[in-house]
Amino acid sequence: MVRALLLLALLAPTPSRAADGAEIYRRRCAGCHGADGGGGPRKLKDLASPEVQGKGDQELFDAVARGTPDRKMAGFRGRLADAEIKAAVEHLRTLKR
Ligand code: HEC
Repeated sequence: MVRALLLLALLAPTPSRAADGAEIYRRRCAGCHGADGGGGPRKLKDLASPEVQGKGDQELFDAVARGTPDRKMAGFRGRLADAEIKAAVEHLRTLKR
């Protein structure tokens, strides 16, 4: 079930209109990270935590663009435009608790 959702999230077409961070996050990120960034069913690191929020925009952008070294999160470069990755990172800032 989770796998099917992830696959759907990965196959979802990239919107051509101006990048909408909340929408991109919902479609491409929330499946793993949870709608509130809190880690979802896989209990990933809380993206709203001071540890993650304390990182700079460029660092977060690079993390998303390149993915994690262990490939648990594949890099989004090539799957999302830079502007879309940037919009998703901007959305992450709104998750700060
Ligand atoms: C296939 C599941 C998956 C998807 C989809 C995914 N991530 Fe991740 N992401 C991970 C995992 C796993 C990590 C490593 C952290 C952990 O293991 O808790 C991670 C790490 C991160 C980090 C680094 C956190 C840190 O330590 O600084 C950021 C930022 C991030 N993800 C944002 C996003 C954004 C934005 C999207 C959507 C564009 C996204 N992720 C989509 C699984 C995913």
